[in-house]
Amino acid sequence: MRVLVIGAGAREHALCWKLGQESGVDALFCAPGNAGIAREVPCLPLDVNRPAEVVALAAREAIDLTVVGPEAPLTAGVVDAMTAAGHRACGPTQRAAAIESSKAFAKRLMASHGVPTARHLTCSSPAEALGVLRAGAFGLPVVIKADGLAAGKGVVVAEDAAAAEAAVRDMMVDRRFGDAGSQVVVEEFLSGREASFFVVTDGVHARVLPTAEDHKRAFDGDKGPNTGGMGAFSPSPLVTDSLAERVLESIVFPTLRGLAAEGRPYRGFLYCGLMITADGPNVIEFNARMGDPETQVVLPGLAEDLLPHLWNAAGGRVESGTFRTRGDRHVGVVLASGGYPDRFETGRVITGLDAAAARSGTLVFHAGTAAGDGGIVTSGGRVLTVVGGGPDFAKARERAYDAVATIGFDGMHYRSDIGVRAVDSSSQ
Ligand code: AMP
Ligand code: GLY
Repeated sequence: MRVLVIGAGAREHALCWKLGQESGVDALFCAPGNAGIAREVPCLPLDVNRPAEVVALAAREAIDLTVVGPEAPLTAGVVDAMTAAGHRACGPTQRAAAIESSKAFAKRLMASHGVPTARHLTCSSPAEALGVLRAGAFGLPVVIKADGLAAGKGVVVAEDAAAAEAAVRDMMVDRRFGDAGSQVVVEEFLSGREASFFVVTDGVHARVLPTAEDHKRAFDGDKGPNTGGMGAFSPSPLVTDSLAERVLESIVFPTLRGLAAEGRPYRGFLYCGLMITADGPNVIEFNARMGDPETQVVLPGLAEDLLPHLWNAAGGRVESGTFRTRGDRHVGVVLASGGYPDRFETGRVITGLDAAAARSGTLVFHAGTAAGDGGIVTSGGRVLTVVGGGPDFAKARERAYDAVATIGFDGMHYRSDIGVRAVDSSSQ
C-alpha cells in the first residue's frame, strides 16, 4: 500500500517511523514533512490546509491511504475533499473535527450526551464573560478558553479575578488568537491529574492505544504558560484497566454515539484529554487527532501494526479491543526554541543529532527543523522530541536525558522534570 502522512511535526515523524517499519506499507511519503523526516522518507511540498492540493497530491502519487496528523487540515475539510474525490483518508470530517475546533460545540455535545466534564458557560461578548466572572459562579481558580483553534495555547487557568478578566480582554478584545476569541468558554476548575486517552475508531468501534501524560506548561514544576506540550510519557500509571473501561463506557462511546446522532459520524484518531478527579474521569478537551508529544511516546510502545487499523478507521470496521504493547516505558522530552511559546528565533544550527539518535533505546523525532547552510537548523517553536525507552520509567528518563545532553542549539530550552511524576507514581 502507498501511504501519505500529512503534517510537519514530531508527531508525523513518529507516525512515519512506525508506518515505515510495517509490512503493509510498500511506499511511504510525508507532506510537507521536515528535515528529520526527509532523511527517512520522501517529503513532498504541500499546503496542508488546501484540500484541493491534498487531493491532487494523493492522485499524482497514487496514494492508497492518507493519514492526517494535525488539526488544521482536518478543520479545513481535507478528509471531506479526499472522500468526495474517492481517496481514502484517516481522520474526521470537518463537521466531526468540530469536537476540537470549537470548544463551545464540544461542551454542548458533552452536556447533551451526559459525558462528564467541567461545568461551563459559553460567552459571546466581553461584557457577558466579565459578567459571568463577576457573578463568581465558578469560584477561583477559573478557566477561560478561546473557542477556536489556538495551538494548545488558548487556555488560561486564572488564579484570581484580575487574571481572569485580563484573559477575557486578551482573547475577546485584543484578539490574541484571532477569531478563536469571538466566543470564550468560562469553566469550573477541576483538580486532579491529567491523562491522555486515545482510540482509533470507525465511529462505532474503538481500538484503544496506550495512554500517556503530557506536560503542558513551559517550565519545570508545571510553571509558566501553556504550550503545545513540553514532554510526555507512556503509559500513564493512572489509567488502570478498570479506569480505561470506565473511560470507554462513560466518555468514548457516548461521545461517538452523540456525534453520530447529530449527523457528524466520527472516524480516525480520537484523543480524550482527561482530568482524573476524585469522582472519576472528566473530559478537559477532545482533540480530533493524536497528541503531540504523546504520539512520540505512544507509538514506540506498540507491538502490532498501526496500518490495518488506520485503513479500517478510514472506511471499514475497526476491530475493537486494545492495541498489543511491548510492556516497556517511554519518556519524551521536547527541545524548544528559547522564548517558546511566545516569540522565538529560528535558523540556529543544531549539533549532536546523530550522536543522540545513535544511542541505544533512544529515538529523535524532528518538528521545527529545516536544512540550512551549516546543517540542520531550527525552524519552529518545538524543535525536537527526544524519546528514551526502557523497562521502567527511571531507565526511560535516563536514556532520554542522556541523549538530550548531546544535542545543542542557541537558546535551546527544555524541561528537566519530564516523567518525574511517572517514576514517583510507579514506585509507590
Ligand atoms: P486544553 O487546551 O483544553 O487541554 O487546556 C489546556 C490545559 O489547561 C489543560 O491541559 C489543563 O491543564 C488546563 N485546564 C483546562 N481546563 C481545565 C479545567 N476545567 N480545570 C483544570 N484545568 C484545566
Ligand atoms: N499534547 C497536547 C495536544 O496534542 O493537544
